[in-house]
Amino acid sequence: MSSYLDKCDKGFVILAKKIGHFADENGYKVYIVGGVVRDILLGKKNLDLDITVEGDCLTFAKKIAVRLKAQLKIYEQFQTATLTLKDGVRIDLAMTRQEKYASAAVLPEVSPGSINDDLFRRDFTINAMAIVINKERFGELIDLYKGSEDLNNKCIRILHPRSFIDDPTRILRAVRFEQRLGFQIEAKTLRCLKDSIRKNLDLKVKPPRHFAEFKKFFLEADVSKHVARIKELRGVRVLDSRGNIDLETLNVVVERVKIIRQNKDYDKAGRWWPIYFFSLLEKKNTHQLEKLSKEVQLDNFLSLSLMQIRECQSVIRQLTNKAKRDSEIYQLLKPFTELALLYFYARTDNGLAIKRIDDFVSIFSHITLDVNGDDLKNMGYPSTDVIGQALELLLLKKIDKKLAAKKDELKEAQILLKRRFSRNMENMNGTNRSGESRSEEGS
Ligand code: CTP
Repeated sequence: MSSYLDKCDKGFVILAKKIGHFADENGYKVYIVGGVVRDILLGKKNLDLDITVEGDCLTFAKKIAVRLKAQLKIYEQFQTATLTLKDGVRIDLAMTRQEKYASAAVLPEVSPGSINDDLFRRDFTINAMAIVINKERFGELIDLYKGSEDLNNKCIRILHPRSFIDDPTRILRAVRFEQRLGFQIEAKTLRCLKDSIRKNLDLKVKPPRHFAEFKKFFLEADVSKHVARIKELRGVRVLDSRGNIDLETLNVVVERVKIIRQNKDYDKAGRWWPIYFFSLLEKKNTHQLEKLSKEVQLDNFLSLSLMQIRECQSVIRQLTNKAKRDSEIYQLLKPFTELALLYFYARTDNGLAIKRIDDFVSIFSHITLDVNGDDLKNMGYPSTDVIGQALELLLLKKIDKKLAAKKDELKEAQILLKRRFSRNMENMNGTNRSGESRSEEGS
């Protein structure tokens, strides 16, 4: 067995061997490829299994799914497949392919190719290596472009000068690997990268695709470093046509999230990416945010949450106002999505504001009344409008701990309804002599 694979998790190697043997039996050549090979050479654990198959990949995928008793998902359009094993392990399969780009920044035309073609179509030398997993050559490294040398020299290098022209999303990828691995973008590669930005090729990429690549920055361990570097290279025009993004707010949020994530309940990597993303845009106006949402095709929830973060400073100011009652905090926070609330949480270090968001999420938003609409109807007030308003007022009183038991709710409901009903009657008669104070009701 090769020394590279010696460092890998045993289960990973056993599985690779199994797939290799099965490929032998069925006359296929199979390889581990791309980023996984890079990570194997870097001695990383917890690897995905990305496999390319020379030949009819989908037939191979169907056959091996049966052998491994795996769940199979086929993506006919891309000629790829995903197997999910019983223990949750995922194996991605693709056919070895060659790619032709009709013009800059468009998706390539894909056709079957050899493993050499497949490596040549890739972004950087460090991602353009393969490991054979067929039995006879098991563990053999195919490194046609000196990827392992570049790994040793901590160097990001493209395979050919058209790389960033063909696929300008690689600008973002170069920065991501540079920052993640602490490597340097090699001089010629950097020149090509800057050239591609100067020629506005990054603007030719369809924004949703560009954004999908940008989003990966927010999943990296050191988000600020990544974003600062791409801003420096003027490569953030997918977020703002002039490259104006708010690094300062991002840095504040990143530090705050580090503290929040010490609480295990919050320590889920995937949950934070929109928070970092929003922080870059907090000071944008509604028009800019709407335009961006549409361009990059954010889903409704993200789009709504993004719009809401514009109110961040005003909300936090109100949260720090000691005079506010719990019911007022409830009314203040109720319109916001869970994500916008998480953003506010990451945007303040004021103890009272934090406690109030916590209270809202874990207590206030779960409080329900013991009485319901029917109870109130039975009191002889049939109007659903009035009953609805009464229930809302009761809930606010309950949040303020003014109603302890169901009997208190019923008693209070009587008072509220009597007052509301008589006012409605007066309004219907064109008079309003009640002189009642509205604010008193809301209290
Ligand atoms: N690739 C490429 N050009 C792109 C995207 C991907 O050449 N624009 C190739 C690279 O060889 C890459 C592989 O496809 O290694 C897999 O892509 P992806 O899963 O996005 O990247 P990884 O290298 O696996 O990186 P990560 O560790 O971030 O998952």
